[in-house]
Amino acid sequence: MGTANVQGGGAAPAPTPAVPVAGREPGGYDVLVLDGATKQSLVSTRSFGRAGLRAAVAECFAECDPALPVVAFRSRYCARQVVLPSFAEDAAGFAAAVLDFVREHPTRVVLPTMDGSISALTPVRDQLAALGCTLALPPDSVLDVANDKDRTLAVAARLGIACPRTMRIDSLDELPAVLAEFDFPIVLKPTISFTRGAAIRVNPVEVVNEAEAVTVLQTFLSSGVGVLAQEWACGRREGVTMFVIDGDIRACCAHVAHRTSPQLGGASVMRESLPIPPDTYAAAVGLVCAIGMEGVCEVEFRRDAKNRPLLMEINARLAGTIENSVHAGLDFPLMIWQWATGAQVAHSDGYKTGVRTRWLRGDMRWLRDNFGRIGRPDSVSRARAVRIFGTEFLRTVHYDCFDHRDLGPALAELRNTAVAVRKSRILRPAARTYVTRER
Ligand SMILES: Nc1ncnc2c1ncn2[C@@H]1O[C@H](COP(=O)(O)OP(=O)(O)O)[C@@H](O)[C@H]1O
Ligand SMILES: [Mg+2]
Repeated sequence: MGTANVQGGGAAPAPTPAVPVAGREPGGYDVLVLDGATKQSLVSTRSFGRAGLRAAVAECFAECDPALPVVAFRSRYCARQVVLPSFAEDAAGFAAAVLDFVREHPTRVVLPTMDGSISALTPVRDQLAALGCTLALPPDSVLDVANDKDRTLAVAARLGIACPRTMRIDSLDELPAVLAEFDFPIVLKPTISFTRGAAIRVNPVEVVNEAEAVTVLQTFLSSGVGVLAQEWACGRREGVTMFVIDGDIRACCAHVAHRTSPQLGGASVMRESLPIPPDTYAAAVGLVCAIGMEGVCEVEFRRDAKNRPLLMEINARLAGTIENSVHAGLDFPLMIWQWATGAQVAHSDGYKTGVRTRWLRGDMRWLRDNFGRIGRPDSVSRARAVRIFGTEFLRTVHYDCFDHRDLGPALAELRNTAVAVRKSRILRPAARTYVTRER
């Protein structure tokens, strides 16, 4: 299984090395950033490039539609574009192709940023290590807990961290017991967001009556995942991003996600950095220490009607909100590289609060979807949605992918947005989808 390598990227300016580059072999790379179509991989590529590191960027073949450019491929800091087999259809082939690449081009660190690529690569962690390459992920024991919400919530319950009231459902016969216990709306979510066998991502979804509950439950169960039923928390969505080494928090910042797409709680499309709330901080530190977290993670909460933070999950990887942290002054991708290569990761000395970042394409989708779900949980009136969307242009200066020093990804994102609009995926209300490809 080979990789298709394309030399790419514009000529990068000569940056000032902020990290030791002495370990790079001639013709090799300091880092291979996977999942190049994601915002977090673009942010990482830029961080590495600006620190003077040589970054190759990879994406699966399935994501390389010529009509939809891969944003990180267009960065001036992308020293090489690598096209891999799909981890969703051929996880072993994907991992073999990454190993081939590292063998041919000595690479110090491999950084996956999505659940699918993480799941495909952890089995070859030792093979990468034998090639002198570090897979920049926490230990498998941490990933096993973080990737399974059932297990995460069990740890949280032991620690006394508040979570939404939850019942597990493994068959349709168990639905009546759930309906007896909860009022609508009820949130249904898979125990595991990404299933390797089924190669799909299943999003949490709210149901407002029994008929919807049956339909959603059948869809989830038929995709082979366990299901959690939860009470719906109606408050703010907050996240705490941390960098942890041996139980020591080297950097930490908090944000609120003002809007997400899908509406209940998908990718954040509008976020703002916050002073760290003591309640979520205490819960997040307790959780990461209990599971032995190492490296970067984001702990997600949602507040209930009484403003109590309820734990949603922990993502033991870079999340899509990372651009907000970087604009606020915390360069988590660079910390990952330093940690993975054994370099010093300094304690951070704070970050800017009130920094707002927006993913415009996602926010357009939020506006469109809101029109199709007025009156449901997590929706607002049409007039309010238009007002929020429109006035956001006055409040926010940072847009995902846009950086005047590196315009290629912004042009790629504009093109992706135009294609989405042309296909009317943005302007016409979409059918409700909750079982999707990973992105
Ligand atoms: N019980 C719930 N009540 C309200 N919102 C929820 C609930 N469960 C999930 N959400 C929203 O959906 C988001 C995604 O849910 P999460 O459990 O993190 O699953 P995923 O793995 O898809 O990210 C949460 O951050 C939250 O905003
Ligand atoms: Mg989540």
